[in-house]
Amino acid sequence: MSARPNAAATVETAAAESADPCCAAPLPVLGRDVTVPLVTGGEVAYAALDYAASAPALQRVWDDVAAYAPYYGSVHRGAGYLSQLSTDLFENSRVTVAEFLDCRPDDQVVFTRSTTDSLNLLAAVIPADCQVFVFETEHHASLLPWRDARVTYLNAPRTPQQAVETLERALADRDPYGPALVCVTGASNVTGELWPVRELAAAAHAHGARIVLDAAQLAPHHPVSVRELDVDWVAFSGHKLYAPFGSGVLAGRADWLQDSEPYLAGGGASRKVARRADGGVDVEWHTTSARHEAGSPNVIGVYSIASACKALTEAGFDSLVARERHLIAKVREGLAEVPEVRVLSLFGDDAPRVGVISFVVDGWNSSHFAAALSAEYGIGVRDGLFCAHPLVRTLLGSDPQDPGECGAPEAAPGERSLNAIRVSFGAGTPDEHVERFVGAVKELVRDGAQWKYRTEDGRCVPDRG
Ligand SMILES: Cc1ncc(COP(=O)(O)O)c(C=O)c1O
Repeated sequence: MSARPNAAATVETAAAESADPCCAAPLPVLGRDVTVPLVTGGEVAYAALDYAASAPALQRVWDDVAAYAPYYGSVHRGAGYLSQLSTDLFENSRVTVAEFLDCRPDDQVVFTRSTTDSLNLLAAVIPADCQVFVFETEHHASLLPWRDARVTYLNAPRTPQQAVETLERALADRDPYGPALVCVTGASNVTGELWPVRELAAAAHAHGARIVLDAAQLAPHHPVSVRELDVDWVAFSGHKLYAPFGSGVLAGRADWLQDSEPYLAGGGASRKVARRADGGVDVEWHTTSARHEAGSPNVIGVYSIASACKALTEAGFDSLVARERHLIAKVREGLAEVPEVRVLSLFGDDAPRVGVISFVVDGWNSSHFAAALSAEYGIGVRDGLFCAHPLVRTLLGSDPQDPGECGAPEAAPGERSLNAIRVSFGAGTPDEHVERFVGAVKELVRDGAQWKYRTEDGRCVPDRG
């Protein structure tokens, strides 16, 4: 097996020469100096291009957390100085997040573990007779929590306008007197395309329904204004917002949150607990965000989200968006030069989008391609169905009902792939990473992989035997 002669040298030179010609420099993130071994020999700076799964921590977030760490203490109930300091920090983080999301004055910010947790929390508090409307194109975190409610799954629209019309038709047919909720993503984790959130919110409200925005992929790339978009709730995750410390947010209308039983029962959610004469227990629950935050909270995770919100706001979304557009153009233009590559899209080439791009390569199994990008170029992308199985199967033209096989054989030219490759990037991505990625795609398609790969536990890995 011959190693690609100078793959490592090529990328290292490119890294040194890249001057990041775009308007703003990438924000400093952890891991920017990490090198990884290539199967073909040598080491190369790791190109983290899987931001849509988890983005690297901003250096600023890490520094803030490190500065706070010696003062870490229990939140809310401690009498000591550090407990009080930690409580202030925790509660001030709520204010920072509310500002970041441009919430209404009476909105509540509930800290959760993630977007998945936030949407499951909302699903647990919606009125019992609530009808839920959700597009089949959603991430499973938005698609699945409503299983016990009366859910209408809406077919994949092919334009933003069609999305609004589809929703309007579905809402017009609903029971007009009962409560209803629409759940929609702001930016797709598969295509990166932006959804017409404001228009969908207007349609929902015109029909007496409420709307929750899954901003897991939107918030790291675009400003999110609850007021401007006129959404009732918004959910996002810290680890996609450069704050990978295990926390998330559900923010929005207080009424359904306060009218329901707590999501988790326990200390912190309860204000008063007393034994009853009949032997039972009476509980008075909090009527603030604490009602759904039982147990000792993740103060570091929460503080890191607040730190990331501040860092992104200070960097300015105008320049972050401009820089990301520049990177998106580089990737899309590069991929467009490879006839064997098909980029997946619901709304078409002109749709506004964030730095999340999925594609398939004629003649390649996507897992094989992603494995070669990693092993031979030090590039971390993702392959699969990205927890949005119905959407990806629709885009691939395979049967959305069919569970498929992860380690499928290579698709012959013209054959349909069963999964896709996703490249995603953001505020910390230097030009060199996307340039290396585009160069690697071209080289792999032209020359093939330099190494042999085999399937191990359902994943494609370099065969070192
Ligand atoms: C659009 C979207 N919604 C929700 C989620 C779930 O996020 P988490 O895994 O942080 O709960 C993801 C994660 O990839 C996502 O992309």
